This record gives sequence, structure tokens and C-alpha cells, in this order.
Amino acid sequence: MTGRIVLVGCGNMGHALLGGWCDRRAGVTGAPEIVVVEPEAERRHRAGDHFAVATLAGPASLPEPDPADVVVIAVKPQATATVVPAYAAHARAGALILSIAAGRTLASLESRLGGGAVVRAMPNTAAAVRAAITVACANSNVTAAQRTRAEDLLSVVGDVAWIEDEALLDAVTAVSGSGPAYVFLLTECLTDAAIAAGLPPPLATQLARATVVGAGRLLAATEAPAASLRREVTSPGGTTAAALAILGGTRGLAELMTAAVAAAADRSRELAREG
Ligand SMILES: NC(=O)c1ccc[n+]([C@@H]2O[C@H](COP(=O)([O-])OP(=O)(O)OC[C@H]3O[C@@H](n4cnc5c(N)ncnc54)[C@H](OP(=O)(O)O)[C@@H]3O)[C@@H](O)[C@H]2O)c1
Repeated sequence: MTGRIVLVGCGNMGHALLGGWCDRRAGVTGAPEIVVVEPEAERRHRAGDHFAVATLAGPASLPEPDPADVVVIAVKPQATATVVPAYAAHARAGALILSIAAGRTLASLESRLGGGAVVRAMPNTAAAVRAAITVACANSNVTAAQRTRAEDLLSVVGDVAWIEDEALLDAVTAVSGSGPAYVFLLTECLTDAAIAAGLPPPLATQLARATVVGAGRLLAATEAPAASLRREVTSPGGTTAAALAILGGTRGLAELMTAAVAAAADRSRELAREG
């Protein structure tokens, strides 16, 4: 990684990306210069103190012209309308604009920048532990080198997949963007069910968490499909089979999950129209 990165917004996601970039550049000759633009003083100082990067409260103090080759937009979606236009000069100068704002389309970003090379990406909250899955989509102005650059920057927090059809990002958002919340809900439900089955709450909480974490690690450790792993622990006529008969019944988990993902994708499409 070389060049100059301007990170706009250093909240949860910006901070996770910044940590990954700084770890990767440690001790590397010609490593990129990183500038963080973050109006909130505490988060700005956190970035400056943890990572020894330059920090600014707003774009006004950036040099004109700014030599950044990438501007990463990591502000809340609602803020993009006012924040993104401030970086139009970067886009005009050939910098890659990499946005992780949910529901903000390439067309809306381009219109706020007046064109340029734009990548829209959807990470998830597991970026905090560098176990995210990010799906990215580039506009037609993005060069092969810029695509590689975007992938380098995103891959510090986990795996990256590319799609050509931006419309798929609504379903992506519904699956991997929102997906960690579904797993957290599953953990909550398993805890409540454990308490209902008579376990003391601390043990119920411990078991539910450890079970979800352990199952996730098993998935990570093998290429075997989830269905195979499920079958391996389901003896005919056994306890797991009894539970799965309930979860797989009418209006069972499969149907609920399909409806939940469809609702999230619909909402993502609505938000994109608003943005
Ligand atoms: N967190 C996730 O799991 C996740 C997953 C996928 C995508 N995303 C996307 O990632 C983006 C960031 O999410 P987040 O969870 O990191 O949000 P966040 O914690 O609220 O971080 C956004 C940061 O941007 C700052 N900001 C506001 N206006 C700014 C400006 N003009 N210039 C520079 N920085 C500014 C905010 O400061 P103030 O608080 O003072 O406004 C805040 O510190 C969102 O667009 C979200 O859709 C997040």
C-alpha cells in the first residue's frame, strides 16, 4: 500500500478500517500517508493517539489541490448529501472515492461528486474483529489498479467479494450487512429458551454465546456446507432431530428467514430511493 488516503468519518467502521491500514503499513517503506477527517473531537483524538495519523475537523484544512489517491467515505448515510460534495475536487483530480455508506448508490454519489471513479462497498460489523465480509461494486470510471487498491483497503477487515450488478447490493445488505443482527437475535432466543428449559440465567447466557461462537468457528474451519455440518450432529430420532422438526415446520426458520431478508432488501431499496 502506498499513496495518500483521506478517511472521512472515523466512527465504528472508519476506526476499524484505519486500524487495519495502520497495522498493514507498520514498518513498510513507502507506506501510505493517512489523513482522518472527523468533526467529533473525542473520535478524532482517538484516531490520532492510537494510530499517529494526521487528523482534521473538516475538509477546509486539506491542501488545495490535495494529492490523495483515495478518499474513503465512512460517514452515516444521511450525512453523505452534505459531506460528499466537499470531495468533488478529489474526484475531478482522479482520486478513487470509496464509499461504505449503506443505501447510497453509485449514481447518487457520482451526482454529488460531479462524476469520477467511485466504488460502493457494504461491509458488516464484524469489521471490528477483522472478520467482515464486504461486497463491492465499481462504476465504469474505476481502473483495474483502483479496483485492486479498493480491495487492498477493504480486505484489512475481512474478505471482499465483487459484484457487477449494483442492484444486488440490496440483497447483499439484507444478508451480510444486517446478518450479524440475525445471529445476535438467535443467541438471545437460545438464551431465553435455555432459561425456559430450567437453566440458571448465567449458565444459559454462557451456553448460548459459546454455542454460536463454536458453531461459527466450525464453519470457518471447513469448506463443508452448513447442511452437512447440521446433518452430522442430527442422529435420526435423536434430540437435535426433535428440535429441527420444530424449526423446520410450517412458518419455521427457513420461511421466517426468507421473509426477513426480503423485508430488509425492500427497505434497502426504499432507502436508496430516498438517498
Ligand atoms: N457499522 C456497521 O456495521 C456498518 C455496516 C455496513 C456499512 N456501514 C456504513 O458505514 C458508515 C459508517 O457507519 P458507522 O457505524 O461507522 O457510523 P458512526 O460510528 O456514526 O461513524 C460515522 C462518523 O462520521 C462522522 N462524521 C459526521 N459528519 C462528518 C463529516 N462532515 N466529515 C467527517 N466525518 C463526519 C461522525 O461524527 P458525528 O457522530 O459527530 O456525526 C461519526 O464519527 C455508514 O454509512 C454505514 O451505513 C456500517
